[in-house]
Amino acid sequence: MAMLKAGFLQFDPVLGDVAGNIAQVDALLDDATADAPDLLVLPELALTGYLLKDRAQVMELADTRDRGAQVEALQRWAQSTGSVIVAGFPEREGNRVFNASILVTPEGDRHVYRKAHLFLNEKDLFDPGDTPLEPVDVNGVRFGMMICFDWYFPETARVLALCGADVICHPSNLVLSHCPDAMRTRCLENRVFAVTANRCGRDVAPGGKELRFTGTSQITGPGGEILLRAGEEESVLGVVSIDPAAARDKWITPRNSMTEDRRADLYGPLV
Ligand code: ACM
Repeated sequence: MAMLKAGFLQFDPVLGDVAGNIAQVDALLDDATADAPDLLVLPELALTGYLLKDRAQVMELADTRDRGAQVEALQRWAQSTGSVIVAGFPEREGNRVFNASILVTPEGDRHVYRKAHLFLNEKDLFDPGDTPLEPVDVNGVRFGMMICFDWYFPETARVLALCGADVICHPSNLVLSHCPDAMRTRCLENRVFAVTANRCGRDVAPGGKELRFTGTSQITGPGGEILLRAGEEESVLGVVSIDPAAARDKWITPRNSMTEDRRADLYGPLV
C-alpha cells in the first residue's frame, strides 16, 4: 500500500454565509493545489457554521447528497486537487435533516455518514444519524467517518476499526479541550490513524449567544502518536505523510492482538 498524504483544513467559517465560506476555502486551497494531499478533511458543518438558530434555518441551509452549493463546492475541490475530501454539512432528505459528513472522490463517488451522537442543542436541530459505521474503500485505503462528539463514545471508533478502517476522518466543531488527547487513546486502542479537523474562531448568533471553538486539529497515528497538531487560532492546511498499512497490524505485543484478544463473550452490556 502506498504512502498517503493526509491533511486537515482548519479555518474560521462565518455563521450562515455559505458563499463566503466557499470563497474562504477557495483562497486557502489556492496555494495548495500544486501539492495537494491525497486526503483532505474539513470541519463539521464546515460551510454553514455551527450555531444555527433553529431547525428551519438548518433545513434552509441543508444540501442533499446530490445537490447544493456545499456538495458542489466539495466536488469541485476534489476534482481540482485530486484529493479525497471529507467535510461536515447539513444533509436534507425529505423532511429529515442530519448533521452529516460526506466523502467525495475526484471521480465523483460520494458517501455520507450521519452523526450518531448529537451534542447538546443539536438534538433540537437534527435527526439522529441512521447510517452504519462502515469504512469506504478508495483505491485500497479504507476511510471511516465519525463526527466531533462521536469521539466520546469509544464504540464509534471501535466499530469502524473492527470493520477495517485504516484512517478515521473526523470533522469536528470542538468546544471542549479533551478531544485531541483522547484521540491518542482512540487511535492507540484501535491501532488506526485519525484526522481530526476542527474549526477555530467563534460563532455569534443573533441575540448574542456565542460559542468558541478550540482549534488544535490533529493527525494521530496508530501508536497514539501526535503526527501533527495545529494551533488554537490559526487557519491552516496541515499535511503529513502516513503509511495506511501500519493500521493493518493489530498486534500490541507478540502475544496480544487488538482484534483476536477481544472478549466479546464478556461485553454483553455494551449492547
Ligand atoms: C460537537 O459535537 N460539535 C461538540
